[in-house]
This record gives sequence, structure tokens and C-alpha cells, in this order.
Amino acid sequence: MEEIIHITVEDPQGGIRQLEIPEGISLSLMEVLRASEYDILATCGGMALCATCHIEVLEGSENLDPLSDAELDMLDTLPDAGDQSRLACQIRLNPALDGLKIRVFGNN
Ligand code: FES
Repeated sequence: MEEIIHITVEDPQGGIRQLEIPEGISLSLMEVLRASEYDILATCGGMALCATCHIEVLEGSENLDPLSDAELDMLDTLPDAGDQSRLACQIRLNPALDGLKIRVFGNN
């Protein structure tokens, strides 16, 4: 049976939606969010260079891979980044992400 990855997303207005993503698609979390019509510019195309895919992890951060140096460097440039900040383009979908809860930021 195909496994489903459930990711809960809170938008900048406080709206909450649960995404159900079939396991086995080779996408980043940024690509899934864009496909789900969240307002993420991703101007660098997922190279950890633009930070427009900045998210905050609310639950499940222990299941994510550690930050790369490139991701850390980019987050360091953001005034609103915190301990739970990540770049969604640097997070590859995998079954361990099931139950993840995140907050997205609008591009203002
Ligand atoms: S898409 Fe540019 S940093 Fe993630």
C-alpha cells in the first residue's frame, strides 16, 4: 500500500491546511508548497540562495536532516529567522516527514 506523508501548513493569515503527499515523489518541500499554491517565489530555483522559501517548523523538526552550511548562511541573512527556521527547498520529501507541521511566510 502506498504511504502518504501528511504535512500541516499554517499560512500567514493563520489558516491551517493538511497536505497529503504520496510517498516516493522526488520533490522538495518548496516544490510541494508551490504546487499547493502557497505564495513562495523560489527565485533561485531551490539553490538555497534567495530565502523566499523560508518556513518555520512548528512540530517534527527532529525528523529533518540537519541544516547545511549554505542553508545556515542564508538563514543568517534573514531578520525574522529563528531557531526553527528552515529553507523549504533544502528539505527533501521522505516518509520520516509524516506529521511535520510548518508555518509559511508570505512574500511581502
Ligand atoms: S528556493 Fe531559493 S532559497 Fe529556497
